[in-house]
Amino acid sequence: MIHVEHVTKRYPGARGAVVALPPTSLDVRRGELLCVAGESGAGKSTLLGVIGLLTTPDAGTVVLDGRDCTAMSNRQRDELRSELVGIVPQLPRLFPELSALRNVELARRTPDRVATERLLAHVGLADRVDHAARTLSGGEQQRLSLARAIVNGPPVVLADEPTSGLDDRNAEVVGTLLARLAADGAAVVVASHDARMRAHATRTLELTVRSAA
Ligand SMILES: Nc1ncnc2c1ncn2[C@@H]1O[C@H](COP(=O)(O)OP(=O)(O)OP(=O)(O)O)[C@@H](O)[C@H]1O
Ligand SMILES: [Mg+2]
Repeated sequence: MIHVEHVTKRYPGARGAVVALPPTSLDVRRGELLCVAGESGAGKSTLLGVIGLLTTPDAGTVVLDGRDCTAMSNRQRDELRSELVGIVPQLPRLFPELSALRNVELARRTPDRVATERLLAHVGLADRVDHAARTLSGGEQQRLSLARAIVNGPPVVLADEPTSGLDDRNAEVVGTLLARLAADGAAVVVASHDARMRAHATRTLELTVRSAA
């Protein structure tokens, strides 16, 4: 489902280039949950951005569901992303004034209030359905962000530190949910150094910090 070959990303910096992502290759099939680990700055978020077609790598190839994204226009990337990929960003991007329910309903292809309430209950937000997103705690916003990302059942799920703000019980809820999405046929990639998340992974990839050569 996900095929990544020799992708790299650098950013120019005042003291020379910053290696955001060292040469990286990976394959993730449906049914797998890959945990991308590595210390802060190792390139975990950059890698998720590259897989999710938000960041164009300097070199290398990204193929999603058999479609080579290398030469695609921005519009083609946007279309493919909305067709295939659900992304849980490191910092939730929600509509702050809208309710939890509306935040998810807006992302849903065909509105279904009952199904959205069920999904919110599934991530532990049953009694926050009508609360404005800005009034939710950090961990609640994270779980709302996850619900939003998976509402259309995307075959590729990318989650950036989805358990970082969560207590053990809710980290378990999120880990189990992501593992379940994989078991049900999605290709899931999670950036996390959280052992509680890693416990749910079928595989782990360790990124290491590099300085520019
Ligand atoms: N847009 C950018 N411009 C310049 N440098 C960037 C940019 N994005 C990332 N970097 C740099 O690339 C490196 C990797 O960043 P990235 O966010 O992928 O790390 P990470 O592994 O997700 O870290 P964390 O665990 O802190 O979230 C960092 O050193 C960062 O400063
Ligand atoms: Mg990150």
